[in-house]
Amino acid sequence: MKIACGTDIIEINRIKKAIEKAGDKFVNTIYTEKEINYCESHDVNKYQHYAARFAAKEAVYKALNKTSNIGRIDWKNFEIINNIYGKPDVKIMDNSIESIDISISHCKEYAVANVVILYKE
Ligand SMILES: CC(C)(COP(=O)(O)OP(=O)(O)OC[C@H]1O[C@@H](n2cnc3c(N)ncnc32)[C@H](O)[C@@H]1OP(=O)(O)O)[C@@H](O)C(=O)NCCC(=O)NCCS
Repeated sequence: MKIACGTDIIEINRIKKAIEKAGDKFVNTIYTEKEINYCESHDVNKYQHYAARFAAKEAVYKALNKTSNIGRIDWKNFEIINNIYGKPDVKIMDNSIESIDISISHCKEYAVANVVILYKE
C-alpha cells in the first residue's frame, strides 16, 4: 500500500492582502462555497481560516503529486470541511485514494497544514 504526505506553511498576511486586492475573484477561484461560509463565519479571524485552507490545498496537492496520476488539479476539485467536533476533513473524488487525513494549525502570522494519503493497492 502506498502512502504519501504533503505539508505547507503560509503567511496569513499574504492571503489577507490577496483577498483585499482581488476580493471575490481570488476567493471564488480558490475556495468552495462551504469553505467561504466557514471562513466568513469567523469574522475578525477569517484570514487565519482562509490561509489555513490555502495551505491545506497546497498540502493536498503535494501529497497527490507524489504518487497519483491525477495531474494538475483545480483548487475547487476538493474541499476542506470541518466535522461537528471541529476536525477538518478533505472531501475529494479520486478512486485511487483509500483514505486521506489532514491536520491544520494557525497562529497570528502563519497557517500550516499536513496531509497524509493512503492509496489503494
Ligand atoms: C481543538 C484544539 C486542539 C485546537 O487547537 P488550538 O491550538 O486552539 O488551535 P490551532 O490553530 O492549533 O488549530 C486550529 C485548527 O484545529 C483544527 N481542529 C479543531 N478542532 C479539532 C479537533 N477536534 N480535532 C482535530 N483538529 C481540530 C481545525 O482545523 C482548526 O482550524 P480551522 O478552524 O481553520 O479548520 C484546541 O482548541 C483544543 O480543544 N485542545 C484540547 C486541549 C486538551 O484537551 N489537551 C489535553 C492534552 S491531550
